[in-house]
Formats: sequence, structure tokens, C-alpha cells
Amino acid sequence: MDQRPIGIFDSGVGGTSIWKELHHMLPNESTLFLADSHNAPYGDKPAEEILRLSIKNTRRLLDMGSKLIVVACNTATTNAIDYLRAHFTVPFIGIEPAIKPAALGSRSKRVGVLATRGTLSSHLFHSTSKMHARGITVLEQEGRGLVELIEAGKQADPETRQLLQTYLQPMLEAGIDHLVLGCTHYPYLLPLLKELLPEAVRIIDCGEAVARQTYHVLQQNGLLNEGAQNSIQEFYTNGDVAILRRFVGDPDNAMKVAYLDF
Ligand code: DGL
Repeated sequence: MDQRPIGIFDSGVGGTSIWKELHHMLPNESTLFLADSHNAPYGDKPAEEILRLSIKNTRRLLDMGSKLIVVACNTATTNAIDYLRAHFTVPFIGIEPAIKPAALGSRSKRVGVLATRGTLSSHLFHSTSKMHARGITVLEQEGRGLVELIEAGKQADPETRQLLQTYLQPMLEAGIDHLVLGCTHYPYLLPLLKELLPEAVRIIDCGEAVARQTYHVLQQNGLLNEGAQNSIQEFYTNGDVAILRRFVGDPDNAMKVAYLDF
């Protein structure tokens, strides 16, 4: 029984979509969440900068006593997880665009991936995509500007709707029947996506798979907290606390959401 928290980081508030899945599946576990909103978006930064920020976040979470780290960011995972696994001793769980289930389920043999430039240009994304998408056309679309809008709390604004429509149109014209959400901010666009996409297009998001994988890795490493102890959920941002609180969905102020300089 290990009561230390699970550390989670993202470039900003998007990773709370992963935290929700984790907390749902592992309610006994305490969590520490770092939203690096001051440095968002990561997706437009060079790979070396994404790596530097990922190391900074990891060190902070380890200093705060994390037993395992969830990289709740596709951009950080695809650019930094190999390095993190090689240089730190705790287990890491990452998230990558879920091409495999989309490719397996596609009838039109055309799947769309909406992700950041940092993810789409990474070696890891290319090798995974090549491995799973044999015989399938993968239409890659950079979601330029979407992370910034979500970070500003504008995930349902007409401006966001219009930008999203611009990105979806070419993929729809090409006949995709699956859309992979390759950024942990994008699940917050689901209401708009459902409005804009025909029903026949399946939206693939792998937050639940990340939670399942975290459970298995904790179990394999003897790190699960199986006690009935009350777990503690803490969220820190180097950006706007009120916005992070809104994404956490904690209207009663029951969880700790605070500013932290990191
Ligand atoms: N949530 C991050 C991801 O999954 C957003 C990256 C960014 O800040 O551009 O890729």
C-alpha cells in the first residue's frame, strides 16, 4: 500500500480531462496536478524546449513526492517520454493519438487526427502512425490556436466553433469516418465536435485507456493505495487559478486548487 500521490502534468488545463478519468478509476489515489499554463501552448515550441519543460515539470512532481508520473499531454509524451523514462526511476504513463483503434474500426480507410504541430512532427507519432495505419490514409490536421482558446476558457465560443469547422472540413471532404483527438485539451471541444461532425464519424479519445494503463502499472509495481484512506486531490497552476478551477469542475471549493511558481 503506497499512499504517495500520482503526479500528473500538462502544458495547461487540458490534462484535467485525463485526471477525471484517473480519479474515476482510482478514487483511492491521491493526485498532484501541474498545469504549466504560463508556458502553453507547447505545441508550437521546438522539440528541445518541450523536452526542457517536461523535465522541469517532472522534477517538480518528484520533489513533491510523486510515486508515478502521468504525462497528460500528447505533445510532451511524443517529444519527451523516452528521455524521461531513461533518466528518472519512477514509472511514466504517456498519452499518444490513438491511431490503432481508429484504423481498426475504419470502413472508409480514412481517419483524421487533430493534434498540435509538436505532436504531428514528432518521431514517436510518425512511427506509431506507420505501425498501425497500414492500408489506411491518415489525415493529419494541426489544431493551431485551439489550445490557446481553451486555455482562455473559450471552448464553446463562436470563434472556436468557426476555427474548428475550418479544421474539420478538409478531413470530412476526404471521407474520414474516425476522428482521433490527439491533444488532451480537445475533449473539452466535444460539445462543438458533436455539433459539427456527422453522426457517422466516431470520435476517439483515449483518456480512459490511460487510466486503465495507470492502474495496471501501479499494480505491477506494488504502488497501489488500496487502503480506505481519504485521498487528496491537489491542482497547481502557474497561470490563472480561476480557470483551472473551472476545468477541474470544483464549484464547492472542495479540492485544493492554487497558484504555484514552477
Ligand atoms: N494538452 C496538450 C497536448 O495534449 C496541449 C499541447 C499544447 O500546449 O500545445 O498536446
